[in-house]
Amino acid sequence: MQILHALDPLRNAVNALRGRGTVALVPTMGALHEGHLTLVRQARQQAESVVVSIFVNPLQFGANEDLDAYPRQLARDSALLEAEGVDILWAPTVDAMYPAGFATSVSVAGVSEGLCGAARPGHFDGVATVVCKLFNQVLPDVALFGEKDWQQLAVIRRMARDLDLSRPCASAILGVPTVRESDGLAMSSRNAYLSAEDRARAVALPRAMKTAVAAIEQGAVVAEVLAQLREDIVAGGFLSIDYAELRDADDLTALSAPGGNPMRLIVAARIGSTRLIDNMPVSPP
Ligand code: PAJ
Repeated sequence: MQILHALDPLRNAVNALRGRGTVALVPTMGALHEGHLTLVRQARQQAESVVVSIFVNPLQFGANEDLDAYPRQLARDSALLEAEGVDILWAPTVDAMYPAGFATSVSVAGVSEGLCGAARPGHFDGVATVVCKLFNQVLPDVALFGEKDWQQLAVIRRMARDLDLSRPCASAILGVPTVRESDGLAMSSRNAYLSAEDRARAVALPRAMKTAVAAIEQGAVVAEVLAQLREDIVAGGFLSIDYAELRDADDLTALSAPGGNPMRLIVAARIGSTRLIDNMPVSPP
């Protein structure tokens, strides 16, 4: 596995891989867990070569967020990726990604607004900007993202369609189902922030969500289900709820009643000082 920190060597190395076949990209911020490694394994099924990026992107962190505290463990991460047979680890420095004078932002309206976009102003501009750059740096045939970050996936697909990206094209942006701990909590680098007590309580989130999904699928009134969901999450030990909503799975419009299209139950809630997000598919009743 080649570990590269600057753009010219990255481009040369990817060009050499492209001579051997297709290339998949898995963008990450490191602190890798089974969720990330599942994306890497899926990537290996999709293409002859795999590039994984690790870049803690300052643009997507708000002023009061955890940029400095975000776990950085490149040595451990690179050993994990090497064991998965990854070809290139692209770990740019902040200066390589955003040289002096950097002035451009990619902003996706609509799907970026509301949900995490409301709680984290500017976050999805930062995500779209860095992912657009990563796509242009690597020019992958396919790119893989987790459904864990459902709104992020919707933003990136919208960007690819709107900007006529061709490497990857929108249909080559693949979503991978959320990987969970054995008790159901979605894996996240931020779970490491939880105290033992809060980690045990956090399972209340996916549990309450599963109950709500079942109720909606059985035809219960959505507003009542969401009210009960909020109560259950707080009763389970969460301090507050940023949002708990039923949305159209594709364009993320808010739904007060199920239509015929695929839906997503999507929640962000705070436990201790940590903000956890989760989402689950909901079928029309
Ligand atoms: P990060 O949080 O490191 O996540 C990298 C990728 O792993 C994302 O596509 C995310 O959805 C996926 N992922 C995280 N936890 C997962 C889980 N439990 N199951 C399945 N997939 C999971 O998301 C980002 O980084 C950044 O915003 C990034 C896209 C790299 C841009 O900076």
